[in-house]
Amino acid sequence: MSITIKIAENGPLIVQGEFKLVDANGQEVPVKKAALCRCGGSTTKPFCDGTHSKIGFQGASAAVQQSDSIK
Ligand code: FES
Repeated sequence: MSITIKIAENGPLIVQGEFKLVDANGQEVPVKKAALCRCGGSTTKPFCDGTHSKIGFQGASAAVQQSDSIK
């Protein structure tokens, strides 16, 4: 299983590849490609609905180096 997660400039996280999206109830959500909201404004969470553009979301374009312990 190989996936790519791309940080869109001031937008969502684009997930591509073979992956599973599982909700908090353990229900698998069938998707092949997903744009996941990271601005918090989407009305279709966890998916992006374009609201980030309307609210002027500005997100980091580069990932911060992750430490050894994931929180
Ligand atoms: S990132 Fe697009 S609506 Fe939040």
